[in-house]
Amino acid sequence: MILVTGATGNIGAELVRTLSERGEQVRALVRDQAKAAFAPGVEAVTGDLNRPETLTDALDGVHGLFLLPGYNDLSDLLERAKKAGVHRVALLSSGSAALQDMDNAVSRYMTLSEQAVRASELSWTFLRPRSFMSNALRWLPQLAVGDVVRVQFPGVRVGAIDPADIAAVAAAALVEGELDGQVLELTGPQALRPADQIAVLAAVLDRPLVAHELSDEETEAELAATMPREYVDAFLSFFVDGTLDEATLHPTVEQVTGRPPRTFEQWANAHAAAFAPKAH
Ligand SMILES: NC(=O)c1ccc[n+]([C@@H]2O[C@H](COP(=O)([O-])OP(=O)(O)OC[C@H]3O[C@@H](n4cnc5c(N)ncnc54)[C@H](OP(=O)(O)O)[C@@H]3O)[C@@H](O)[C@H]2O)c1
Repeated sequence: MILVTGATGNIGAELVRTLSERGEQVRALVRDQAKAAFAPGVEAVTGDLNRPETLTDALDGVHGLFLLPGYNDLSDLLERAKKAGVHRVALLSSGSAALQDMDNAVSRYMTLSEQAVRASELSWTFLRPRSFMSNALRWLPQLAVGDVVRVQFPGVRVGAIDPADIAAVAAAALVEGELDGQVLELTGPQALRPADQIAVLAAVLDRPLVAHELSDEETEAELAATMPREYVDAFLSFFVDGTLDEATLHPTVEQVTGRPPRTFEQWANAHAAAFAPKAH
């Protein structure tokens, strides 16, 4: 049995599907049963990662665990997992874990999560994806009302990755076990600027989309309106100060899965229905 946390999220939902298609026994962790819409045969179970004591049922009989980073007491959770018989963990981390920058809120929680898993003495694989292609869904509200899209950090190239490719690598790690002890840097096949992604979306959606490139000050103000200050500072550090390189591409997805990672165009075509038609 493999337990997938974050099963309603971008990566978890793809992983539940991938494992289920591979014929694996899958259990999906949800906080709200009403959100549990999975393929037949997938067992949904409730629990809260911030409260490890709620995971007893979820962990029962599990040998492989897909784990999201950053929750309150991962050490307690991992101790419970070990006692329940979990053998292997695939941890969703990010490239910022490599920085081990404890003054950066994002790098800090990724670093602490990796440290907790290493200390657990379970077998582990760390998945360090760069930004997800699904982050483009944050433009949906703008796309619903017009063709101009305000883009943050316009000069930054990112080797964004399709969540389905992260899930494919996670499935290989959890099922095959040949990736134990590996730290996997995961990217897509191209390093694109936000305006390049908008150009791809314009072609896929057949709309005259225009990227309106925000200054660093405008980007900071937008971020500050949507997240706590320490995360604003973290992203400014990554993409204005340039502490995080997300542009360098890595061959890992193809090495693990035997096929190239999906392009942003492929992701956009697969998710075109999610982009609501323009309101008139
Ligand atoms: N976006 C990026 O570019 C990027 C890049 C690298 C790493 N990451 C990391 O990737 C992680 C997940 O990304 P994602 O896009 O899959 O996220 P997502 O789509 O927002 O999904 C988050 C998932 O976590 C679940 N969840 C939230 N709080 C929980 C809790 N207390 N207990 C149990 N489940 C909880 C949510 O379930 P509900 O349905 O109950 O809300 C949801 O299934 C994040 O931790 C992020 O740090 C993101």
